[in-house]
Parts: sequence; structure tokens; C-alpha cells
Amino acid sequence: MSAQIKHPFVAECSTGAEWWRSAVIYQIYPRSFADSNGDGIGDIVGISSKLPYLSSLGIDAIWLSPFYRSPQMDGGYDVADYCDVDPLFGTLGDFDRMLEQAHDKGIKVIIDLVPNHTSSAHKWFRSALKAPAGGGERNFYHFREGKGESGELPPNEWKSIFGGNAWSRIPGETQWYLHLFDSSQPDLNWENPEVRAEFEGILRFWLKRGVDGFRVDVAHALVKEPGLPDWDGKISEDSGINFGPMWDQEGVHEIYRSWNKVLKEFPGDRMLVAEAWVQPQSRLARYVRNDEMHQAFNFDYLLARWDATALRYVIDTSLAAAAEVGAPTTWVMSNHDTVRHTSRYGLSEPGLRPNGIDASREQPDEALGLRRARAAALLTHALPGSAYIYQGEELGLPEHTTLDAAHRQDPSFFRTDGVLIGRDGCRVPIPWVSGEASCGFSVAGDSWLPQPDSFSRYSADVQQGDPQSTLELYRQLLKLRHDYALGNGRLTWLPSAQGVLLFENGPIRIVINFTDLTTALPDGHVLISSVPIDQPGVLPANAAAWLT
Ligand code: GLC
Ligand code: CA
Repeated sequence: MSAQIKHPFVAECSTGAEWWRSAVIYQIYPRSFADSNGDGIGDIVGISSKLPYLSSLGIDAIWLSPFYRSPQMDGGYDVADYCDVDPLFGTLGDFDRMLEQAHDKGIKVIIDLVPNHTSSAHKWFRSALKAPAGGGERNFYHFREGKGESGELPPNEWKSIFGGNAWSRIPGETQWYLHLFDSSQPDLNWENPEVRAEFEGILRFWLKRGVDGFRVDVAHALVKEPGLPDWDGKISEDSGINFGPMWDQEGVHEIYRSWNKVLKEFPGDRMLVAEAWVQPQSRLARYVRNDEMHQAFNFDYLLARWDATALRYVIDTSLAAAAEVGAPTTWVMSNHDTVRHTSRYGLSEPGLRPNGIDASREQPDEALGLRRARAAALLTHALPGSAYIYQGEELGLPEHTTLDAAHRQDPSFFRTDGVLIGRDGCRVPIPWVSGEASCGFSVAGDSWLPQPDSFSRYSADVQQGDPQSTLELYRQLLKLRHDYALGNGRLTWLPSAQGVLLFENGPIRIVINFTDLTTALPDGHVLISSVPIDQPGVLPANAAAWLT
């Protein structure tokens, strides 16, 4: 990490009027959001039922993780039909109704597109398996001859992100197929023009139905280095940032330029947001050049420790890189792939990104983690650009850190014999009503993953109307952010003490104390604070405030 920039630094967010430049976007993981029919799995009708809640939270858009037909080997990121809803989640009719209801409330809808791989149950893969080696249909995927005397060795040394080999052998053949994730998720061959044409059709299918955008899954993986050269490095660094011949290849950008054109065929400001675990920020910015995608998740921000210098560095570099290409930056703290930040901030190394937490590992300090997460919310929502909220974050939900192995479903847990604990702990169903079975998640009280006991006190109904609650903190923050147009604003750093950040955005000054000691609160009227300010002029430890 380079030295902190010493001079006051002014960064301007791009000034275009498109809604996504400043939007607060709420991520819904459908199977864990709200269950309307009592099978223990969240569904689209459940999402519809919570639209009034989302509207009163003050968000601008929702992003739905996949709800397509899928064997659910990776929570739906294994798609068997891109143009239909899995019966588990409802029907296309349910989707259309939900979309209309969301739009009636002024909420945009972004859906997840999974173009790097299909499910092995997809008809393209089934046909490929039936086709002779070297044949046209195999060309939809990456089939290669195995090495060794009788093809018994994989074509190269690539490893799966979820652990184990990135190649699986077809029974009775010398051919293998590539899967950067689970063996049930064969990678598509984006050199094949038919694959490109199919996906343009899929984009149009959903754009015609009225969706406002797509979150593009592993956007940095679609094109592989020609010849699939050996790579003995790790496929994924512990940080989550990916290096190697399967990531961030120049060829991906041509795909996004063509998708940008497809979106322009439709009225309204439709958008694409990239999930690309690349570094540095200047590489990420290439995905959001003005003829490609519109946003990219800022994972440097998610990965940053609870530390003033580290966060300031990330903020400066991300604003600067995005400004170079005229894109807004994004601010993301949690999603369905990472330990919830409330829990990460409560670790002895605050902000460390473990690959899941179970009962045998260090247990986060729940109160301290939540205290810091509330302060981090004041930072995030004061920054210019677009901000993401992962479902339950507004309730201050912690990770389920003691989930029993018997309940785990993440393929990475099984592919590594439990070395990677996996992502189930951040995917536990949302508590809506305390005291009810499954805290009101399901009408029948079932829940596909059990909730920890603590969820009852985090339930939305308990927090509703309590001015000290995290839910009400988020509501106020989003309202103020909107009223003061902070998402379209600009950031100016002001001098601050060690371990403290102070900046201005429009008429608001924002102060965040990252230390475990109190610090001086700047003069002014406190609009909102992450903890009560009991002593005038004193900002408590691990706390933040907005002032005018
Ligand atoms: C992305 C998704 C993750 C999924 C993987 C494979 O990283 O966010 O949940 O497992 O892609 O599709
Ligand atoms: Ca259900």
C-alpha cells in the first residue's frame, strides 16, 4: 500500500445524469430473502411482499442474485436455462409482476447474468457431451485432450476457485472439460461466435421484459489466454483478487462493447455492473470505459482493513481511476461471497477477509464489529458514486460463525474437504419478525439454513421505529444522502488527526474515528452519528458523524 496522499485531494464524480451514477443498490439473494410458500426457500413472491420495506429504506434499485432454472449446485450460479425462472423461486409471471410493482415504487431492477459458465445440466452442455470429440457442439465449451499416455492427466495445471482441479474428465474418453468453479459449472468458450450470439439474445429477452440492468458474474473470466498455457500459481489469491492466464484478458472488453450496444437498443438508462476481482484500480476502470460497462464493484473497498490510511488510499485511488474514464465508482462492503463486514470488523485483525468462519476459528467481537460497521455506513453513504447494500446489512446482521458442517452447502466446502469453510454463513435467511419460527423468514417457519439465536434481536420488526437501531440509521442515512445529493457530489479531504478521516461533500462534513480512543469532534451541528454523542465536542472511539 503506497503512502497516504498528503495534499488535500479533490476528486470529482462524473456529472452525467444517469440514475446508476449515484444509486444505492440493494442486493437480494433470493433464496434467503423471504419465503412466501413455506418450503424454506425464499422466492420472487416473497421479494414482492417486501417491496414496501425496501421502498421505505430509501434504496434506488435492487439486484437479484440468480433465480433461473438451475440444479442449485452453486446457489443458482449454475444456470440450466437463462430465460426461465426456477420453479423453486416461482414463475416468469411472478417475475413480471414483481418487476412492475418495483417500477411502480420507483425501484429499478438489476438481474444477475452468468456468462462464464453454464450448469452441466444446460442443453448446450448435454448436446456437447453427446457430440463427437472435436465436433461443433463441443466448441461451446473448453474440451481438450488429456495429457499422459491415455489422457489420464488434465490438459493443464489450472485449479478451480472452489478447490481441486479445474478440469474434469469425461467418463470413457480422453477428453476433459474446463471449469474454473465447480465441475457442475463448465466454462463457455467465448471464442465461439455462437456463444456470443446466444448471450445477446438472452440480454434482449430480459431487456424486453423491462429489467434495468445486469450484474455480470465473473466478468474478468470469459476470455482465456490463447492456448490455455500452464499456470502453476494459485488460481485465486487469498485476498480474492485473481491473477493468471484465465483472468482479465484483453479479449473480454470486446464482449462488453457489444453488450453496451445491445443495451442502447432499448430506452432508458439500462446498465451493466462488473464483478471483476482485478487490481489495480486502473485495470478495473477498463471495464467501465464509456463504451463498455457502467459500473464495477469496488472490491478494494470491501477488502480494506478498518484503518484510516488504508481506506483513504482506496478511496483516492478508486475515485481517481473511475474519473479517468468518466465512470462513477462504487462502494461495497459485503455480498453473498464474503464474510459479513459486521463480523470482519470484529476480528482481532479488523477487516481481514477469511474464507468463512466456523466454531473452531476466532469468533468476532459482535458488539465491536457492529459499532464499526455502523461507522462504516456513515463513511460509505457519504461518498460520491453508487453504493451497494447486501440484504441484512441494514439490520446490522452478523455472519453465522457457528453453522454446523452438516448444514453447509457451498461447493467450496466440499471440494476442499472443509479447508475453505465457504460462504453459507453470510447467506442465512433474513430475520423479519422476532419470536416467530425462522424469525418470520418463511410462512411455515422453515429455513434452508438455520439462523443463529442472535438473529431474533436483529429482526426488522424489533428495529422498526427504534431511533437507535441500525435499520433506522440506514433509513436516515439514505434520506440525507439523497436530500444532499451526496452520490453526485465531490469529496474534499480536510486535515485530521492520526487514525481519523475528515472530508467534505457538498454542505456536509464527515468525520470517522477508526481508533479505539476518543477524538475531537469538529464544530458544527451533528446531523447524524453512528453512536450517541454524549459529551459535546467528543467523538467516541470507532464512531462517525455527519455535520453541517
Ligand atoms: C461469482 C458469484 C459467486 C459464484 C461464482 C461462480 O463470484 O458471485 O457466488 O459462486 O461467481 O458463478
Ligand atoms: Ca419458497
